[in-house]
Amino acid sequence: MFTNDITNRFQQLETPFYYYDLNVLRNTLQACQTAANKYNFHVHYAMKANFNPKVLQAVQSYGFGADCVSGNEVKAAVEYGFGKDKVVFAGVGKSDREINYALDADIFCFNVESVQELLVINDLAAAKGKIANVAIRINPNVDAHTHHFITTGLEENKFGVNVWQLPDVADTLRNCKNLQLLGIHFHIGSQITDLETFKTLCTRVNELSEWFEQKGFNIKVLNVGGGLGVNYYSPDHDNVADFDAYFKVFSDFLNVKPNQEVHFELGRALVAQSASLIARVLYVKNGLKKNFLVLDAGMTELIRPMLYQAYHQIENLSQVAEAEKQPIKYDVVGPICESTDCFRKDVELPESFRGDLIAVRTAGAYGEVMASRYNLRDQVESVYSE
Ligand code: LLP
Repeated sequence: MFTNDITNRFQQLETPFYYYDLNVLRNTLQACQTAANKYNFHVHYAMKANFNPKVLQAVQSYGFGADCVSGNEVKAAVEYGFGKDKVVFAGVGKSDREINYALDADIFCFNVESVQELLVINDLAAAKGKIANVAIRINPNVDAHTHHFITTGLEENKFGVNVWQLPDVADTLRNCKNLQLLGIHFHIGSQITDLETFKTLCTRVNELSEWFEQKGFNIKVLNVGGGLGVNYYSPDHDNVADFDAYFKVFSDFLNVKPNQEVHFELGRALVAQSASLIARVLYVKNGLKKNFLVLDAGMTELIRPMLYQAYHQIENLSQVAEAEKQPIKYDVVGPICESTDCFRKDVELPESFRGDLIAVRTAGAYGEVMASRYNLRDQVESVYSE
């Protein structure tokens, strides 16, 4: 629940905007770092989840590395002071220009997704007289049991090298003089809430790391990706993911040799709770079958509900005192000219009026960064707790 002071502040501001609670962000980052340190694990922040400047500054200040998926993200990581020994460049479609940029920046490692990409990085590194560190992203064929749009570790997905292609990868690595194999990399999907899934992943990582060792490769880094989910339903919006339970699974089930490091790429679990989308009710449309709340924010500001049927709690901040009364069901929609521009149907809210402030919660991950300017909307603004 927002304090009265915060709601009063919102009243003065033009909507819509993302409101960042930097205390929640810092508490989450601290909790994650403390838990990771306990096991001597290394966490790279998956910058794609949120590259808001204040978020990047905070994440960097807690000593996380950066997991980047474009040349611009690599550039941002360097600019925001993530040490280059902690910058990883992943992604299924790295362009030559992006690879060259990352080679010039001397980043820690490229997570490579195909044999052809290995050959390209080798050529580009050779042209610069450099050796590129690489980790092979392997598709472990593990079902993440999450929304199928955000599952990545099945054979039908475009990501990574399939296990049957590994002999070809091993031959290529032996022939590429400008590549140094550092480790193996996995990422099976996002918003994973069943920790059993990660146990299955550990078993696959153990088998595949053993396979490489037997072929004579020295695997220094086991990168198990990200994917830890958050609780979008909790009434406590500031709740922090159970990092300790998550890391413990890897500590218990991953076979880590003394010279090996375990790396993670967490995005959502680090930033989701730190922001809410704040909007106003523009119109209340009462129909025979449906009541609509038309907000001044829609899929252009937060597309997750429309793209993945994602659930976000919706609150009317202006009618908090009325919350106990008989609620009314509203379809909470945005202003965009698309039928899918609906945050959720049949949301139970106190009776709502034009001008009421609405909060869409747990929107810090894949929220602001996925905003668009469709319908030539304004770029969504950000507001901070301090
Ligand atoms: N590593 C790789 C290789 C990834 O592809 C991703 C996310 C991550 C790490 C971070 O995953 P996280 O810890 O955040 O789950 N836009 C979607 C989520 C897409 C996730 C893409 N990859 C959503 O709003 O749910």
